[in-house]
Amino acid sequence: MAPFPPPPVNTIDWSNVGFRVREVNGHIESHYSVKTGKWTPPTFVADPYMRIHGMAPALNYGQQAYEGLKAFRLPGDTTISIFRPDRNAARLQYSADFISIPPVPTSLFIDAVKAAVALNAEFVPPHDTGAAMYIRPQIYGSSAQLGLNPPEEYTFCVFVLPTGVYHGTHPVKALIMDDFDRAAPNGTGSAKVGGNYAPVLRWSEKARNEGFGITLHLDSKAHEEVDEFSTSGFIGALVEGGQVTLVVPDSKAVINSVTSDSVQQIGRSFGWKVERRSIKYHELPNFTEVMAAGTAAALVPIRSITRRADPSSPQSLASSAATKDHSRVSFKDGEETITYIPEVVEDAGELCLRLLTQLKGIQLGKVEDTFGWRVEV
Ligand code: COI
Repeated sequence: MAPFPPPPVNTIDWSNVGFRVREVNGHIESHYSVKTGKWTPPTFVADPYMRIHGMAPALNYGQQAYEGLKAFRLPGDTTISIFRPDRNAARLQYSADFISIPPVPTSLFIDAVKAAVALNAEFVPPHDTGAAMYIRPQIYGSSAQLGLNPPEEYTFCVFVLPTGVYHGTHPVKALIMDDFDRAAPNGTGSAKVGGNYAPVLRWSEKARNEGFGITLHLDSKAHEEVDEFSTSGFIGALVEGGQVTLVVPDSKAVINSVTSDSVQQIGRSFGWKVERRSIKYHELPNFTEVMAAGTAAALVPIRSITRRADPSSPQSLASSAATKDHSRVSFKDGEETITYIPEVVEDAGELCLRLLTQLKGIQLGKVEDTFGWRVEV
């Protein structure tokens, strides 16, 4: 038998992988039928295409949820490890409930993810190139169904592909979405369903064309509190009298980010505090650093946050008492911008770098995994 893992393929420039779809050997599928009440054992399909009825509720009613996690090649090339798959299994079960899909058991989820990685192992990037194998599990209603009722059959599948980090590694400018709400106050905001992402596409594309690499959502009801970035979770870092505190939004409309949770635990291990609480828009200038945390994104340093606000409106930071540090805020052409990292600086802030170095160190096996997060393939 050939030794595992096989070396990385030489058809990809591993120093420049980017964040785009690349074809690999195939994917894993499992099927659930209401008749049997069971998911079938995972099987390998040597194809990127799915066979699905055109009347499947996944295609017609958006009955679909997905996950994102990553696998890494460890030093010496003898091991591939997956980062915290149990957390993604739990989150997929949580999302499944919102869209009436039977939960995928954790053991099936992890077996399927391991099989997808193992059967495409030559596409796991070389150790420490900045790239990783991105793993995309999905569930959806797959049998034909016209009425608005749950169908008879469901599909669970796992796709994998090598990627670099989303948003790159340099500080990114964020734009607040005031013309569009990502999720209704009592809606599906905390579930990782495609319906939270598709409506964002036209807004994030517009923002990108205006120079903003990432978009930020406030609460849908009043637009007063921070929810999350369109692609990732929000983390604010405060430094007061030498004490670092990471602040994450306490909102029922945000996805429970595995990367944010990992970063919070790493922060605690540094002696930092962590607060989960509502974050008012008006206190954003008080943060020393802001980061976006997600599987695809890793940890993105936020250069600035811009909002299109009339300075005379109560929404504006212009006369806000909650804003302790007005020096970060500038006003121009009907926009107010909070700057954390000036244009001339190419690097992430000190706190972001420290967290990212430790996170990557654990994922890549360069640092001892005291949390038990790495799962070997
Ligand atoms: C991830 O970070 O894994 C996601 O699912 C976000 C997606 C927009 C790339």
